[in-house]
Amino acid sequence: MPSVDKKLPKLGESTIAEVVAALTAEEKVSLLIGTGMDFPGLPPKLQAPVVGSTQKGRVPGAAGSTCAVPRLGIPSIVMADGPAGVRISPTRKDSAESFFCTAFPIATLLASSWDIELVKNVGRAMGHEAKEYGVDILLAPALNIHRIPLGGRNFEYYSEDPLVSGKIAAAMTNGVQSQGVGTSVKHLVANNHEWNRNVINVKVDQRALREIYLKGFEIVIKESNPWTVMTSYNKVNGVYTSESYELLSTILREQWGFSGFVVTDWLAGRDPVAQLKAGNDLLMPGSIYQQEVLLEAIKSGELDESICDRDIENILGIILKCQAFQGYQYSNRPDLIANAEICRSSASQGMVLLRNSDKALPVKENTRFGLFGTASYAMITGGTGSGDVNKAYTVSLATGLRAAGFTCSDALESCYQEFIATEKSRNPVSTDAFMPRVALPEYIISEEQLFDTTLQTDVAVITIGRHSGEFVDRQAVGGFYLTDEEKNLIRKVSTAYRKQSKKVLVILNIGGAVETASWCDQVDAILIAWQPGQEAGHAVADILRGKVNPSGKLATTFASRLEDYPSFGNFPGVTLVARNEEEKSAAVGDKAAEIEYNDGIAVGYRAINAEHKTESATVFFPFGFGLSYTVFNYSNLQLSNNEFESDLTVSVDITNTGDVAGREIVQLYLSAPSHDRVKPVAELKGFNKTGLLKPQQSQTLSFTIGLADLSSFDPVQSLWVVEKGCYVIKIGASSMDIRLEANFNKVAASQLSV
Ligand code: BGC
Repeated sequence: MPSVDKKLPKLGESTIAEVVAALTAEEKVSLLIGTGMDFPGLPPKLQAPVVGSTQKGRVPGAAGSTCAVPRLGIPSIVMADGPAGVRISPTRKDSAESFFCTAFPIATLLASSWDIELVKNVGRAMGHEAKEYGVDILLAPALNIHRIPLGGRNFEYYSEDPLVSGKIAAAMTNGVQSQGVGTSVKHLVANNHEWNRNVINVKVDQRALREIYLKGFEIVIKESNPWTVMTSYNKVNGVYTSESYELLSTILREQWGFSGFVVTDWLAGRDPVAQLKAGNDLLMPGSIYQQEVLLEAIKSGELDESICDRDIENILGIILKCQAFQGYQYSNRPDLIANAEICRSSASQGMVLLRNSDKALPVKENTRFGLFGTASYAMITGGTGSGDVNKAYTVSLATGLRAAGFTCSDALESCYQEFIATEKSRNPVSTDAFMPRVALPEYIISEEQLFDTTLQTDVAVITIGRHSGEFVDRQAVGGFYLTDEEKNLIRKVSTAYRKQSKKVLVILNIGGAVETASWCDQVDAILIAWQPGQEAGHAVADILRGKVNPSGKLATTFASRLEDYPSFGNFPGVTLVARNEEEKSAAVGDKAAEIEYNDGIAVGYRAINAEHKTESATVFFPFGFGLSYTVFNYSNLQLSNNEFESDLTVSVDITNTGDVAGREIVQLYLSAPSHDRVKPVAELKGFNKTGLLKPQQSQTLSFTIGLADLSSFDPVQSLWVVEKGCYVIKIGASSMDIRLEANFNKVAASQLSV
């Protein structure tokens, strides 16, 4: 705790109001903006503000910090990214030690586990690392909707569905915050792709906004009480989210009961005064421009000091909970060994088995592998940008399989390693985590070498890798679609191995959906390993050898073609010619941009499933889909009532009828009557995962359906409405594999206030 003058109020001893009353205008402004960012090439007005007192640099490489006001006992707090682990510098000028953090699996993998306890545990582990490195607030979780598979930051986000996003984000928040470290739930709202993200105006109707884009945030606020919320860069319906009173004060605080502070995304928005007035309490990372504008606005009366006081009270309420205030003596020695284990086990729980013909997996003991694809030797642990993590190591697939007792062709590995080294020296990997990474090209294997490898090995594994990250969206080819090189590799390897009656497996080392329809028949098994964090190779090996029975399921549809996604027609949006100087300066260059979400609520499976039939599951993998090494039987669907009163309980028995132990994710979809408004054919309203069931073992899973689950948002009345009539509960192994159904009736229509 900083030493303070006894006569003055002190944070923690006096009331927050008394502390705020003792602040000068300069101090107030210093608390409302961060201490600045060291980023090469920042224009002068975005340079760090001039501050009297700060502990800037306490945690090198952290994204930002706030100003201290020692005379009133207000410490500086530190914020660090991000969703896949703590991002700080691994080295420090003044120390010979290292400060690595665990690169955990990406958010999309965690969501594919559909496992609340598992995600909470990963959150605890991240919170522990943040705490021991002196970080007060982790800038995570991120839960924007996967509206389009090309979204550059989809890897940081959970799902195309708001319920999965909200529940998993709440689990992450609860886990991190259990360690006394805050979270920043981001990016509120509609930052669904990167193209022109700083200026784009997202035009979205109120129903879609509430039911799809805001719903996950509403769940996480109500179920986990995050300390902070981060607004997004973009505008929604003409207003920057960080300048939207309706979003921040009306919806977030009044309607949802949020009680922490709201922080901008880094350098987001245009008008600091409008941001503070709207209820965006803290402007990060803080700049000299903001400092000057705010001081001037206070002086001129344009910014009422009571607005500043309100925002500072929100900030101080959270600072009181931070370890910087509590005086926690962090060790700089988190338990990285224990966290590597959590990384490995959570990674294998979120991997998704898409195909497994003739029980290609698990493989036999002593299998000799031929590993193809550059990513087999250079697995991609996560995405780039602020979601990147400075980790100590990456376990490659080759290392993971060898550690599990298998052999991998050394001759093939030597060729790949040589090729990778040459490629890396030709195109050095940027040391700047924020820069997009260029994928390694594929090594073109000769017929002869392929033939030899086929003879010397039993099974081929082809790893297809994908980079993505902040600032850019993925390309169609090389992003969603495989490149010709990759397709040729699969075709050649498949032909050679199948000639010898040997199996071919594909590992998808990806951060977002890829096309599988055109090539999946050429291979025997497909495992989505996602970007699984630093223990990548071990986690994949655990599944290939059957130590872990895969139990992940897709939280995002893998369609056959980009055109199948309803958002495709209006992505990424259009650029507009600026009409005046203000628009010019607000835009990148002189272009503003706009996108119309005219797919409304028809996002992901809500629309795609209606277009496809179950039989097409071999060429497209629906939301909720994932195979296991065992099979499960669904029986005894029970509803607590046939008539809906307040809550309804649903239960179902799940039995493992196969011959190995496994876990099953069970999904509850609801088909609602649609007399007054169009409803999707079915919407996910609950999910649950069994424990590890032995063969013949059963477990009863329960779900609760509340009135809110029956409702739709009515933009005219601005409230949630529930139609009367017959509702159908559908219990499924995926959104297109419904196993049991039951009806209930809602006698009268009703309404729910927001
Ligand atoms: C990202 C945020 C991140 C922030 C701080 C921004 O570029 O959009 O997600 O938390 O940087 O690093």
